Amino acid sequence: MDYDIKNMDLAPGGRRRIDWAHQEMSVLNGVKEQFENDRPFSGLRIGACMHVTTETANLMVALQAGGADIALAASNPLSTQDDVAASLVSHYEIPVFAIKGEDNETYFKHIEAVLDTKPNIVMDDGADLVSTIHKSRRELIGDMAGGTEETTTGIVRLRAMANDGALKFPMMAVNDALTKHLFDNRYGTGQSTMDGIVRATNYLIAGRNVVVGGFGWCSRGIAMRARGLGANVIVTEVDHLKALEAIMEGFRVMPMIEAAPIGDIFVSATGDIHVLDRRHFEVMKDGALLANSGHFDVEINKPALRDMSIADPKRVRPFVEQFTLKDGRRLNLLGEGRLINLAAAEGHPAAVMDMSFAGQAMAAKYLVDNQGKLENKVYTIPKELDQQIARFKLESMGIQIDTLTEEQVQYLNSWEEGT
Ligand code: ADE
Repeated sequence: MDYDIKNMDLAPGGRRRIDWAHQEMSVLNGVKEQFENDRPFSGLRIGACMHVTTETANLMVALQAGGADIALAASNPLSTQDDVAASLVSHYEIPVFAIKGEDNETYFKHIEAVLDTKPNIVMDDGADLVSTIHKSRRELIGDMAGGTEETTTGIVRLRAMANDGALKFPMMAVNDALTKHLFDNRYGTGQSTMDGIVRATNYLIAGRNVVVGGFGWCSRGIAMRARGLGANVIVTEVDHLKALEAIMEGFRVMPMIEAAPIGDIFVSATGDIHVLDRRHFEVMKDGALLANSGHFDVEINKPALRDMSIADPKRVRPFVEQFTLKDGRRLNLLGEGRLINLAAAEGHPAAVMDMSFAGQAMAAKYLVDNQGKLENKVYTIPKELDQQIARFKLESMGIQIDTLTEEQVQYLNSWEEGT
């Protein structure tokens, strides 16, 4: 079996951590049991490009239980948990191509290695597999049943492809499921981003001015959790509606250029480029922390920061590079400007990835069940699957809810009743 990982000796520790996450992923485990019976992926190859974490490992094992042959590459050069990669290879015989800290060239070599296995389904987190297939591996399109996409950023890329008529197989937008973005993006990103910043710096958050770029589902989770730790939170937005929501949630809202001289900690999760730019660096306080929780490492303008710096940055802690500017101010870039929650911490906790990855697994099965019937476009997860995931999650938490009485059903269906 071909693979490329850091160190096979790490496998036993990886397995213990995969098992630990397993206990928190009851919805995915339920799907896995169904897969063991039905074997929906028998004879099919699944190529995945996802963060190599304990939670992803449990997803891969569930797909394998459904009969799939799997190959996995990292969806970010800094997010791989090397012990998990080792365990997947050693204990589960799943080829993994991922090493934490790999350079960009290796990152893309690993994506090619997954594509070399000629997948019938691709599972993407950021659309790198899909865009590589469409750009340079078009011979694979013929055998493709379709793919699934995990993130907002990936779905934006896919919709652009579909609008151009460039998308050549159906894609399931897992992120659009309510059981994904309302929970994973908000509570997962919120908690794990603060976890990443704290692990990277050991800073006290209470009393700091935390500036959050954006007020989408991820960034509002970050704003919420930063406030919970005692920060004074400032939100920046380009969308009037979201800005209004942020204000009514009790956050301060202002343009980034006004927040720049006030902020102690900056976190961006907008999905867009250069949210923190040269003009902001020019007025920031000495010692400011710069972090990103968006998918790509483009939200902080790293080339500008390098250009403004009088020397190479100093690595002052494992995930902190300190840039000294001409006037002596020091700006601290966390996790190389890559997803701080996965670079310096362990990503979203298993209990929330449980729902996202149950959605991934069900979406992959949906592609198989509907092969030949789908168009080359971006599909949202069917509402029934979303409801099912929410129901299973509540059941696993031991929580029951009410059902409508006959009288209530009738009332909702009638138009004659009123005052
Ligand atoms: N994205 C964010 N957190 C993650 C995790 N724990 N595993 C896989 N993908 C993630």
